Amino acid sequence: MTAQQSETAEGADPGLLKERVARVLDTARTRTSTLTTCVDDHDLITQHSPLMSPLVWDLAHIANQEELWLLRAVGGREAMRPEIDPIYDAFEHPRAARPTLPLLPPAEARGYADEVRGRVLDLLEGTALHGTELLTAGFAFGMIAQHEQQHDETMLITHQLRRGPAALTAPPPGPAPADALRLPAEVLVPGGPFTMGTGTEPWALDNERPAHQVDLAPFYLDTTPVTCGDYLRFIEDGGYREPRWWDPRGWAMVRELTLAAPLFWTNEGGQWLRRCFGVVEPVRPDEPVLHVSWYEADAYARWAGRRLPTEAEWEKAARHDPDTDRSRRYPWGDTDPTPAHANLGQRHLRPAPAGSYPEGASPHGIRQLIGDVWEWTASDFLPYPGFRAFPYREYSEVFFGPEYKVLRGGSFAVDPVACRGTFRNWDYPIRRQIFAGFRTARDADPAEVL
Ligand code: AVJ
Ligand code: FE
Repeated sequence: MTAQQSETAEGADPGLLKERVARVLDTARTRTSTLTTCVDDHDLITQHSPLMSPLVWDLAHIANQEELWLLRAVGGREAMRPEIDPIYDAFEHPRAARPTLPLLPPAEARGYADEVRGRVLDLLEGTALHGTELLTAGFAFGMIAQHEQQHDETMLITHQLRRGPAALTAPPPGPAPADALRLPAEVLVPGGPFTMGTGTEPWALDNERPAHQVDLAPFYLDTTPVTCGDYLRFIEDGGYREPRWWDPRGWAMVRELTLAAPLFWTNEGGQWLRRCFGVVEPVRPDEPVLHVSWYEADAYARWAGRRLPTEAEWEKAARHDPDTDRSRRYPWGDTDPTPAHANLGQRHLRPAPAGSYPEGASPHGIRQLIGDVWEWTASDFLPYPGFRAFPYREYSEVFFGPEYKVLRGGSFAVDPVACRGTFRNWDYPIRRQIFAGFRTARDADPAEVL
């Protein structure tokens, strides 16, 4: 069954939509539990990096947002514990300050989350999923499932930063398919208009809307993300010592922090190693490179004689179907992701080798656009024409501007409910702890394209 059929079926049968809501909420909570029970209580209240909250803050913040949007905004209920709201308001306290707050201790945070969830499932049973904008197609419930999954990715980043023995394990992705070595390095995406953004995806967030036409010149895009092996050639060619490859602010960062490799990499007697969830291992040349800042991605691309794709180029490559001239939900079509399409949902705790997931390829044969690593784009995080903040300005609107760069496609740490061809993520160009890599592009010479 295609997703569009399933949307129609859910539209016709409210029970099916409610089942889907309950399922995505449960999937998120299962992951949250794994991430917060694999370490002890002391570890939960520890701040493992000033860039991150203590895990126990994320846990109660997830529950507090669920209470705010579902029990209070949708259900009209009174606040359960009004005194804790300010503690879990991300805008009142920067991450660095959160360990000094009077946080709910782990057992209380879990109890609060369980209590909220029980009431939410009761509310879901007794609420028609239409009538108001928050309720239409279960939007508020979908938003809250996505919010929890986004914090599950945030908590996984905290686990990656955490020192000490491994707390989490997962089976590795399979080897690359046999044709991975024969793939062309890049493919042409022809010029012309396409539809960017969406007005029909029911759980798309405000920044993905509205759908609008964007006309692009033809360009070439890498068939796979840039690998550690590719990136090693940049390092070995002295990439981190050559100011000419770097944006001036990136070069200042390289100097100030004496950067010489991606975050979590070390060189031991000539061999490159990387730390991955508490395990130190040799860098694998065929894996997409991870934990590079936008500045490093930008410098690599310049060194390679290329550039980062714009956000619009990325989305056209990922969604435009040249046969029908329609924009689809995913590179492979409109059906929801399965494990054969993409590396999503923390099934594996690392990206799959470059060239994996042939079933997830785009019409032009571009692989791994969804899952594996977030991909830095050249673009600033800006509203689409006709943007309207919904349901709150603090989700997207307050972040619009040139200080944030857009990332696309999701990583191995993102659940399918929070990942699609239109999904937009953003972060500062100096950030390296996120599960980000990139692929490169170049302008197509019109003579070459004819
Ligand atoms: C979309 C990942 C940038 O983590 O700051 C979580 C998601 N918004 N809680 C973030 C989010 C509110 C957001 N990002
Ligand atoms: Fe949040």
